[in-house]
Amino acid sequence: MGDADRTRIAREFRSFTEAAAGAGSPLYVELAAAVAEDDRALDLLLDLPTDKQQPMLLFGAIAFLGAPPADADELRAVIRDDGDRIRETMRTRFTQTNEPARCAAVLTAIGDLRGPVGLVEVGSSAGLCLYPDRYSYEFDGRPVGPRSAVHLTCTTSGPVPVPAGLPEVVGRVGIDQNPLDPSDPDDRAWLRALVWPGPNAASRLERLDAAAALAAREPATVLTGDLVDRLGEALDLLPADCTPVVFHTAVLVYLERDRREEFAALVRSLGVRWVAQEAAGIVPGVPRDLARPDSFVLSVDGRALAVTAPHGGRIGWL
Ligand SMILES: C[S@@+](CC[C@H](N)C(=O)[O-])C[C@H]1O[C@@H](n2cnc3c(N)ncnc32)[C@H](O)[C@@H]1O
Repeated sequence: MGDADRTRIAREFRSFTEAAAGAGSPLYVELAAAVAEDDRALDLLLDLPTDKQQPMLLFGAIAFLGAPPADADELRAVIRDDGDRIRETMRTRFTQTNEPARCAAVLTAIGDLRGPVGLVEVGSSAGLCLYPDRYSYEFDGRPVGPRSAVHLTCTTSGPVPVPAGLPEVVGRVGIDQNPLDPSDPDDRAWLRALVWPGPNAASRLERLDAAAALAAREPATVLTGDLVDRLGEALDLLPADCTPVVFHTAVLVYLERDRREEFAALVRSLGVRWVAQEAAGIVPGVPRDLARPDSFVLSVDGRALAVTAPHGGRIGWL
């Protein structure tokens, strides 16, 4: 690993400052800028495989082992004093942010389905998006579903098809290369550590805890493995006589372009409804210029329908 890698990592952390600013986390803006200028921090990252050098993995590991550093000085101190444990946590963990608020957009994409629905979520993390029927919603103040411990508010623009009620979900199956267990205290702590500090953190943590408790009480079936390799098996686990829905949010970005194409071709061949919430340009057929990099696009069967906030809470119908 040489100077080129050091420069690349520093560049990635500088570009992460923009994402952190967009997500309303001034602390992570400061910390990412500090890492980009700090030789000891860059040395720690250079010791790791390339796919383990991401800003969120570093900040998540530090938060998991203690708490997010209060400022750049504290970050430098924690990297100096606790580098080995940070590196070890980064080696064994993955960026797996699980945000149940993304269910509001999923709900609008399946709200027209009549009769029982079977859900297969690929890249399900701890499976917290597999319970859209167990959560309650408020679209611009308009309630949907009986009040739940996980209550999702969402602003809309354009003709968002807000459903009158919740779907009848008769099967939930997740696939993840590294499933997290919503009943495991360590996995829950890791999920909490991945929530960015900032003004939205308290409500996100509260929602995460409530959704994890709900998921732990009613565990979904989860297959460990790759989303292309195990999709057929996952669909076979759904009860007969339901409408199968394959969905994913914030997942395909982790796949190489060829693999995304392979996944898209496979889903299209299966005769299922296909709901995706991913950054623009990630789902094959959904153009990159549809949304800014800090927004997601909701697509159904490969057709873009709406621009959404990456962590939920906003839907703009196209
Ligand atoms: C950022 S998380 C998103 C979790 C959840 N979909 C959500 O929106 O809250 C991405 C998840 O995709 C999983 N993942 C990434 N590539 C995968 C693959 N090829 N096969 C299965 N799971 C994968 C990761 O392990 C991780 O749990």
